[in-house]
Amino acid sequence: MTPLDPHKLPVHLAVIMDGNGRWAQQRMLKRIIGHQRGAETVKMVVEQASLLGIKYLTLFAFSSENWSRPALEVRALMTLLKKYIRQETARMMRKNIRYNVIGNRRELPDDVNETLDGAIQKTAENTGMVLTLALSYGGRQELCRAAARLAEEAVTGTLSPVDITTELFNKYLDTGNLPDPDFLIRTSGEMRISNFLLWQLAYTELYFTDTNWPDFTINELHKALADFQSRERRFGMTGDQITERGDLLNA
Ligand code: FPP
Repeated sequence: MTPLDPHKLPVHLAVIMDGNGRWAQQRMLKRIIGHQRGAETVKMVVEQASLLGIKYLTLFAFSSENWSRPALEVRALMTLLKKYIRQETARMMRKNIRYNVIGNRRELPDDVNETLDGAIQKTAENTGMVLTLALSYGGRQELCRAAARLAEEAVTGTLSPVDITTELFNKYLDTGNLPDPDFLIRTSGEMRISNFLLWQLAYTELYFTDTNWPDFTINELHKALADFQSRERRFGMTGDQITERGDLLNA
């Protein structure tokens, strides 16, 4: 496995888990089998990220646009999600992992929300990795929700528009209590962001692999993280400035 420098890991790793459907179709299997196999990869990545000491892991599990998929696939994904959360919560407790959810939870079925609430409550005091599931999540939708809340406060007079800074705006996002991702991995060969964390990815290092999500292995994860460690992050500054500001290198 590619050796990793434990001091240069991303603080926040985000993943677009793509290619479950194609993985299944290539094997003449139903798409949901691909999602089931994808859930096994989720287990591996959660376990590895936590073992490596990554503080925040955010997984794009269901997008705002995924509601347009065939009803059968949507239902199967919701059932799989519930099953995963129920089965994995004990392990999350053992590994000191805290659940978090971003996205428009109002669009999720009640039983899914109940399962999520139970898991969030149960793991609320855990102090290890924060595992954020993006569910019914879209970056543009999140930005609109934040803008609507700010506008409401401006109308009622509790906020003046001139006070809207990037720091303040950030607090109104679903990710208000998370740092921006340092590293984004997308599987299955697609090289786009697909409405994921549009604001938060401003300075994130991007990594694309052709591997479909169900085939993504520990080795590939390490390879991706080693690639991250080879990058110079400049945040709009010069390389010399960054060398002087060592604190930013692993911000
Ligand atoms: C993209 O593959 C994946 C999804 C839309 C869902 C992701 C869900 C999982 C990995 C399993 C369940 C999740 C958790 C957190 C337990 P795709 O269907 O778009 O693949 P395709 O592009 O090949 O059709």
